[in-house]
Order: sequence, then C-alpha cells, then structure tokens
Amino acid sequence: MIILSVESSCDETAVAVTKDGREVLADEIYSQVDLHAVYGGVVPELASRSHIEVITRLAESALRKSGIKKSDIDAVAVTYAPGLIGALLVGLNFAKSVASALGVPLIPVHHIRGHIAANYIAYPELKPPFIALVVSGGHSLILDVQDYTRMRILGTTRDDAAGECFDKAARVIGIGYPGGAAVDVLAKSGDDMKYYLPRAKVDDNPLDFSFSGLKTAVINIAHNASQKGEELDKASLAASFSAAVSDSLIPRVMEAAKMTERDTIVCAGGVAANSRIREDLTKACSLAGKTLYLAPPKLCGDNGAMIGCQGYYEYLAGNIAKADLNAYATMDADDISF
Ligand code: KG4
Ligand code: ZN
Repeated sequence: MIILSVESSCDETAVAVTKDGREVLADEIYSQVDLHAVYGGVVPELASRSHIEVITRLAESALRKSGIKKSDIDAVAVTYAPGLIGALLVGLNFAKSVASALGVPLIPVHHIRGHIAANYIAYPELKPPFIALVVSGGHSLILDVQDYTRMRILGTTRDDAAGECFDKAARVIGIGYPGGAAVDVLAKSGDDMKYYLPRAKVDDNPLDFSFSGLKTAVINIAHNASQKGEELDKASLAASFSAAVSDSLIPRVMEAAKMTERDTIVCAGGVAANSRIREDLTKACSLAGKTLYLAPPKLCGDNGAMIGCQGYYEYLAGNIAKADLNAYATMDADDISF
C-alpha cells in the first residue's frame, strides 16, 4: 500500500512516500529553522506562511524521487494533532485536497504516534508491546504502547517539555536556537558534576516529570555568574544540564517498564538524538536486561516518513477520516478523536 504523508505541525514541512508502512520511497523535509532563529523561537504565523510556500513543491519532489505516479497513491496520511493550529491546517488542507482529487482515503495521524513509528521504519523486527519515551520540543511522555494504535500515557511533564528546556538552556548559555543539538555537542567537553542542578520529583504520579525548576536553576547560574563578573563554564553547564535532564527521564522509563513488565523500550522524538540520554538509556537497559530501540538521529526530528508509517497502521485499524477532518492544537496520544 502506497501512502503519501504530510507533516506540518511545527516548523518543518515534510512530505513522504512510504510503502506498506515501513519502506520509505521518498522523504522530503524543509526546515524553517533559519526563519525563526532571529526571533529565538517559532513564530506561528510565519510558520504557517512558510508551510504554504513550500508544501506543493515538496510533494512534487517526493513524488519524483519515489518514482511513483500520482495514480499509484492508495491513501494520504496527515498530522492533524497536536501542534500549532495554523501550521497544522496548512498540511491538513493540502492532504485533504490531494485525497479528494485522487479519490483515496484520508488518514488522520497523531504527531506523537508518528514519532514512535519512526522506530518501526528503522527496526523491521520491532513490534508492540513496548514502553515508549517520546521527548521532543513540545512533549515529554512515557507511554505503554499496547498495540500500533492502542496506547496509554503513564507519565508526562507537569510543565515544560524536555526539548523546550534544552532550547532555553542553549539560549542562556548563548549558543543559538534551537539549541538542543548545540548543547549536546558542547556538553561533551564539560564536567557534568560542576554545577548542581535539581532533579525534580512530583507528587501523585512518580512517572511524571517537571522541568521548570531545572530551567530556572540554569538561568540563575548564568545570572549569578554575570553579576559577579565570573566567567561561566559553558561546557560544564551544558554537561551538568544534560545530566540533569537524563537523570529526570531514565529512572522513570525504567520504572514504567518494571511496573508494566514490558521487556522492550523505545525512544523517539527530537531530544532522543541527545547523546547523553542515549548513553544513559543504553546502560540502564543493559543493566535491567531490557531490549532498547533508539530512533536513528535522522528519524528523531519531525519528518513525513514517520507519519506515513503510523498512517499505515491507523488505516489497518480502520481510522479513516471524513472530508470534514479538523486540526487540533492539543490532543492526548492515547485518546484520539477525529
Ligand atoms: O521532535 P522535534 O523535531 O519537534 C517537535 O515535535 O517538537 O524536536 C525538536 C526538539 C528541539 O527542542 C531541539 O532543540 C531538540 O529537539 N533536539 C535536541 C537534540 N537535537 C534536537 N535536544 C537535545 N539534544 C539533541 N541532540
Ligand atoms: Zn515532533
């Protein structure tokens, strides 16, 4: 089954062509990073406009590179939630038009489910059930993935997402936007014990995270240093910060696997590219005898192939949208509606 898939939930426009879920025939991505960098964050209106400008060209290019004809497309999959509403609507309306013109089904895909599916592309043998850690610019979640389209959120952030926190730390350290990858690189030459940073615990649910205190602590360290005229050890702050994020995530994922007696752990989302998190998770899984699947860095960030892959499984589950499908800025991955 050939699926044309569209992703436009934030600042990447992406169109892919996939076959039977896991085979990627083309995966075109246009990143708007340069457009937003000057503002230090994504400007929603600019994001929507930029999606409009490139989406048709991207789809044409994906078709050309995949070697298929329009008439070979069996369905169109699209991210419809969660994300920036204007940005989502661009991809959604484009996908609706293509599906309607070709007379093929329209498949609604939840963005977080798509991130998880990136691992199905990379690892042909991977099948649910497993525990998934999804860490991105907008989300930090631990899920019990019972089946391709059936999952339960076990833990989530009470405030900021891990990626948001990485971006804030990068800004404070002065290494640009979006700074997650830059913090990762800088951290390698730093001392992760140099700065004390909190690892927050939250009441009620031991699997929930909180990153706002960590964010404030990084800001305070930078301000204190500047007020005292001391030089900030940027590499060590990056290393101490990365360690604090990792220490907040990994024990909870391991606890989730223990609680649910799952043998497999999957890690996905933009922040899953982080080398400290990958290293710590690898060690923890090897110690606990769990099988670990880490999304390859190329498939960690937003892309169209992951939407096509999850779209295939949504289609098999009968999740097909009508022409009045709407976009939603927020929606839980385990409680989808369309
Ligand atoms: O999944 P993604 O591309 O978009 C969302 O769905 O949000 O994630 C983007 C986030 C950004 O916050 C970015 O700084 C972060 O992922 N990121 C990283 C790394 N690479 C990207 N954070 C930490 N270490 C990295 N190597
Ligand atoms: Zn994402």
